[in-house]
Amino acid sequence: MDWGKKNRLSKLFRADGKCFYLPIDHGYFLGPTRNLEKPQETIAPLVPYADALFVTRGVLRACVDPVGSLPIILRVSGGSSVLKDLSNEEITTSLEEVLRLNVSAVGASVFIGSDHEKQTVMNLAKLVNECSTYGIPVMAVTAVGKELEKRDARFLALAARMFAEIGADVVKTYWCEDFEKVVAGCPVPVVIAGGPKVETEKEVFDFVYDGIQRGASGLNLGRNVWQNPNPVPMMRALEAIIHYGATNMEANEMFEELKHAETAAAG
Ligand code: 5RP
Repeated sequence: MDWGKKNRLSKLFRADGKCFYLPIDHGYFLGPTRNLEKPQETIAPLVPYADALFVTRGVLRACVDPVGSLPIILRVSGGSSVLKDLSNEEITTSLEEVLRLNVSAVGASVFIGSDHEKQTVMNLAKLVNECSTYGIPVMAVTAVGKELEKRDARFLALAARMFAEIGADVVKTYWCEDFEKVVAGCPVPVVIAGGPKVETEKEVFDFVYDGIQRGASGLNLGRNVWQNPNPVPMMRALEAIIHYGATNMEANEMFEELKHAETAAAG
């Protein structure tokens, strides 16, 4: 592997081999979704605890300070809004833009089992072809659109393995029961996404802890952080699971303590 790609990959994982990415790319298909109306305000208190931002070029240019920014994973697929068939995606961002923006990696969604399976697999393949010339790592995003029930080990293992075979350097997928089966069949690092916000913080800590125990390399969690009324305590408790060996119970206690301290400080 060339120096440039090794250097970029080294920015995506801490020395412990783990990562915590903060995704704020949702507007590309959801519009101004709740708590992400002004991305710069949402992320300002959260970036100290994240290892990279997952973002489109538009929000990157408009809302992220280029001086001292976190490593950037650029979302480069899109094309359909939540009102249409989400799987009908193409690559939206040229390689020149990727290079101009000096990003650490790019990310594109692939919709296995959808009407646009082949189209989105080929999006990934073409992206890997182009990016490998310049040493840019590629993160493949397991996408299920509105079919959230697809998130089981059999489906997610199929998708993860396909993305690694096509040449992805990192696979983003969902947590599921028997998550070790997804990791076992995938020869590149697997990171967990969150999906729509769940009811309690404890549920988030439970699935994140379980996923890490079963071999996930980290987390790419958006709505369950920045749609929580206490996003900084969420970030810090999740960072403790990923990088400091906290259990789900310890993370929950930490969250409650930080939340109460925050509430007390607010008066
Ligand atoms: C949406 C994405 C997000 O990066 C991914 O879904 C993670 O965010 P969340 O935890 O909110 O699901 O790919 O375009």
